[in-house]
Amino acid sequence: MDGLRVVPTADGSSTLYSERFKATYHSVNGALTESMHVFIKSGFEAILQNKKNVDVLEIGMGTCLNAALTGWVAQMYGARVHYTGIELFPPTVEVLNSTGYHAVLEPECAELWEKIVAASASEPVPVSTWVTVSKLYVDFIGWNPNNMYDLVYFDAFAPDDQPEMWSIENFNKLFNALKPNGALVTYSAKGLVKQNLRQAGFYVERLAGPPGKRHMIRAWKNEPK
Ligand SMILES: C[S@@+](CC[C@H](N)C(=O)[O-])C[C@H]1O[C@@H](n2cnc3c(N)ncnc32)[C@H](O)[C@@H]1O
Repeated sequence: MDGLRVVPTADGSSTLYSERFKATYHSVNGALTESMHVFIKSGFEAILQNKKNVDVLEIGMGTCLNAALTGWVAQMYGARVHYTGIELFPPTVEVLNSTGYHAVLEPECAELWEKIVAASASEPVPVSTWVTVSKLYVDFIGWNPNNMYDLVYFDAFAPDDQPEMWSIENFNKLFNALKPNGALVTYSAKGLVKQNLRQAGFYVERLAGPPGKRHMIRAWKNEPK
């Protein structure tokens, strides 16, 4: 299956293991728990404090789990989201279905996930009243944003597995693509990541991490008040 296999994680949700990168797509301490903590609670819900129309950019869309959770939570808040997911190696629908996410997610979220998985990559696809998804199957390294975003989910493989993704240059590109008061969230709180984010202009906040990780990072375009 494309050098990808499904592996279980501690909260009962599964993740993928990539032979190419020798890494899992999520924490083995709980895939769903990590996504909810890092991207939804610490990222999306923080931005929703001030905005109800949100442009989200995900680096490494992978299983579409973060996109589905975002769409599901958007509906609860009555927020509108345009979600752009960058992915160089999109898993096949067969691989995605073997994750069992349709069974583990809340029914409304599972329905959204299935629509996002099935969405074509050639144009923006409305998957609900609240969410439109644009899948971009491109290499993040050479990609130049031509839109502005409120929130970046930086979900690349870890800095030790794929260091080129976490460079000052790449963070600078994302900094410039953020709207005022926008933020980037990521699960890694490695020293070099914080350093590179600061060099790129971000105000870096260290937050409590999901199970198995002491910290994570939320980095702001403007100094938080
Ligand atoms: C940690 S996994 C992402 C997990 C994903 N957010 C999810 O919830 O399933 C990292 C993802 O980045 C993708 N990726 C690796 N190198 C990339 C690149 N140069 N450009 C875009 N995507 C890349 C991988 O294929 C993989 O799907």
